[in-house]
Parts: sequence; structure tokens; C-alpha cells
Amino acid sequence: MEKIRKIGIFNNKGGVAKTTSVINLAYGLQKREYKVLVVDCDTQENCFTFFMAGKSASPVLPTDYPHIFHTTWERYLHVTEQEWETFDYILFDLPPTMSEEVRIIIRHCDVVYVPTILGEFEISGLRKVTDEINKQGVKLGGVFVTMYHAENDAEIIEEFRRILQNRLMKSVIPYSKTVRESQKAGLPIEAYFRERGVPQTQTSWKIVNAYESLTNEIMGVCS
Ligand SMILES: Nc1ncnc2c1ncn2[C@@H]1O[C@H](COP(=O)(O)OP(=O)(O)OP(=O)(O)O)[C@@H](O)[C@H]1O
Ligand SMILES: [Mg+2]
Repeated sequence: MEKIRKIGIFNNKGGVAKTTSVINLAYGLQKREYKVLVVDCDTQENCFTFFMAGKSASPVLPTDYPHIFHTTWERYLHVTEQEWETFDYILFDLPPTMSEEVRIIIRHCDVVYVPTILGEFEISGLRKVTDEINKQGVKLGGVFVTMYHAENDAEIIEEFRRILQNRLMKSVIPYSKTVRESQKAGLPIEAYFRERGVPQTQTSWKIVNAYESLTNEIMGVCS
């Protein structure tokens, strides 16, 4: 079997940590020495196209991390097959809509993961999202919970587990105010903690461990 490596992170609900998950998964994968391309699908980049049309600039740009590269869906369409074959993983950060373009991107992925928060309304929404992914003929890697509040959500997560069964992933990303702080500092959470010298014994590291666990779970499916 060909190695699965084009991974979509999608939920048509907004603000459920799609982008946060892409950033921290990319960081986890580069730590393991994988070469990662992050594809921002949330922008049309009309001005970039306008000013850069005809320029020979590579559609793929380097980042502060030697193994992480960035592009947008628009520019990705100009990446040659030879070039994208040099990546171990390609992560697609999808927008919170179910447009025809989003369907095209989903069909391009080998596997799609769905982040969700826990709430009564999310269950019916998730059914629609997972049905839509299936309809596009793409493998659903799983649904994972983000912004989990241990004190409020213990009961509802069991309901999600009962309904989603093995489609609900084991990794659960806790709510943590350090996410916003790290994003303000322009860093993935683990890089932020390391830069600030936060000891690994501190409970705030829980979220880093959760993203580590999610990275491993996804790599398990994709190996
Ligand atoms: N585990 C977390 N704990 C606390 N806050 C979080 C967590 N994950 C994400 N956030 C915050 O939630 C907000 C939404 O996150 P993010 O932008 O990643 O969601 P999204 O699904 O990509 O949103 P959109 O649908 O608009 O693209 C951000 O302000 C982010 O900092
Ligand atoms: Mg986003």
C-alpha cells in the first residue's frame, strides 16, 4: 500500500482548533525529522497571485523550522509532483465551510481528521461532516476532541464515545490558556514552553503530551 501522507484537518464548524492542530501536528512531525508541508486552504491569496504571477518564486516557502514548509491551496496547485513527493507529510488546514473547493481538497487528501469540541449540537453536526467525508470517498481517520474541560465534559465525552465508537480517537486535547499565549508569541505550544523554560512536570505540559499522543495516533494510521 502506498504510504498515506496527505492529511486534511476539517470540520465545517468554526473555531474548533483546526489551525491550532495543524500547527502543533506539524511541529510534532518535524521533531521526528519528517519533512512537512502545511497547506493553508483558508485564503484565496488574490493579491499574491496578482503580484507574483509570472514570477519564478517557488510556490513552497520555508518557515523558521527547517523541516516545515508552507504553501496555500492556490500555490499548492503549482507545486510539481516531483516537489511534493519530497515531503513525508502534507497537512491541509481547511476552512470552516463545505464549499465545492473544500470538497475538491478533501478528495485530494488520503485521510481526513475531524477536530471537535464537546456540545449537544456538535453530535448532529459531526454526523453531517463524517457523512460528507465518506461521500467524497475519502478515509475518515477519526474524530478528536479539543478544548476538553475535565470538570465539565467527563459525561458528554462518554456520550460522544457511545455514538462515534471507534471513530473517536483516544487522544483528547485539553483546554489550555497557554494555546493563545503561544499563538501570540508565534510559536507551537511545545516550542513556547521550551523557550520559556516551563518544566515538563508542570500540568500545563498536559496539552503538549496530548498533541504528542495525537501525532503518534495519526502516524499509526498513516504508516
Ligand atoms: N486546546 C485549546 N485550549 C484553549 N484554546 C484553544 C485550544 N485550541 C485552540 N484554541 C483557541 O481557540 C481559537 C480557535 O482555534 P483555531 O483558530 O485553531 O480554530 P479553527 O478551527 O482553525 O478556526 P476557523 O474555523 O476559524 O479556521 C483560537 O483562539 C485558539 O487559540
Ligand atoms: Mg482555522
